[in-house]
Amino acid sequence: MILLGIETSCDETAAAIVSEHGIQSNLVHSQLEEHRPFGGVVPEIAARSHIEYLDSLIKRALNEAELNFSNLDGIAATAGPGLIGGLIVGLTMAKSIALVHDLPLIAVNHLEAHALTPRITSQIDFPYLLLLISGGHCQFLIVDGVGHYRRLGTTIDDAPGEAFDKVARMVGLDYPGGPAIERAASQGRANRYALPRPLQGRAGCDFSFSGLKTAVSRIIAKGKVLEKDVPDLCASFQEAVADILTDRLRHAAQAFVEAYGKGVLVVAGGVAANGILRERLKATANEIGFSFAAPPLSLCTDNAAMVAWAGIERLRLNMVDDLTAAPRARWPLDPNAAPAIGAGVKA
Ligand code: KG4
Ligand code: ZN
Repeated sequence: MILLGIETSCDETAAAIVSEHGIQSNLVHSQLEEHRPFGGVVPEIAARSHIEYLDSLIKRALNEAELNFSNLDGIAATAGPGLIGGLIVGLTMAKSIALVHDLPLIAVNHLEAHALTPRITSQIDFPYLLLLISGGHCQFLIVDGVGHYRRLGTTIDDAPGEAFDKVARMVGLDYPGGPAIERAASQGRANRYALPRPLQGRAGCDFSFSGLKTAVSRIIAKGKVLEKDVPDLCASFQEAVADILTDRLRHAAQAFVEAYGKGVLVVAGGVAANGILRERLKATANEIGFSFAAPPLSLCTDNAAMVAWAGIERLRLNMVDDLTAAPRARWPLDPNAAPAIGAGVKA
């Protein structure tokens, strides 16, 4: 089974060819430079840029894999959640190819693609405990199988990637903030600034990051953070995020144990590319008797290989879509999840 995957939900235009044996090609065109002047993703610019690059990326992905459309068994494209303009571009392209070449279409949930990514490179069986941490999402889920997700907790305000991006902007580091903060933090002292760990020790496994972000902005507003202090502030912030995630992990793991006993913690999404966070999560998981898995760094941030893979997992189970599949700006993995206590702005 071999699929073309298309990803256009945010600011990466991506196309990949993946078979059951692995990734044949995986191309990402990042729109970073186009959005950098604005310090964040501008939806209209993103959609136009997807239109401009998607076509040639698909051709290159096929060329690199030395295949053409007639060799494919299906087309998978991200149909949500994400920026609607970009989703329309990618999904319409996928539908056109599916129609012309008479191929099955799989409309993929971007979060499901992140959730299943570790299975591309490692043998990880269902069920597992998933921590999905990205620019727009933060949730613990029990992954029972393809299409079967139970959300244990989510953020009541910001996602961690968003916090990384905002803090980076406050201290004058480039967008995207995650990698920039991680680099700066590697030169800093994590115990220099006292920052809050919202919800630490509280029952359940919901998250909150906005108080942490505000605490950083207060320190900066006092005018005492000079350029030489930035690495310490970044390290202190990153340490606080690690403490929040590991504290919540203990609660989520407990919920998993009650259902299935000890298992595997899988970490996925852009923020899972952070080396310190990976280390801390792995240490805590091991301490409480869980094994740990995370995708290779290049598969943590948005890419189309994960979309093609989710397509393979679905196609194997005959979970295909027809040409009426609609793009969805919001599309929770667990539609039955109760809203998070508190604000509950994020799916
Ligand atoms: O999964 P992703 O590529 O896009 C979304 O679906 O949101 O995640 C992007 C987010 C950005 O907020 C970025 O700052 C963050 O992941 N990120 C990181 C690192 N690399 C990317 N955050 C912390 N440390 C990193 N090394
Ligand atoms: Zn993502």
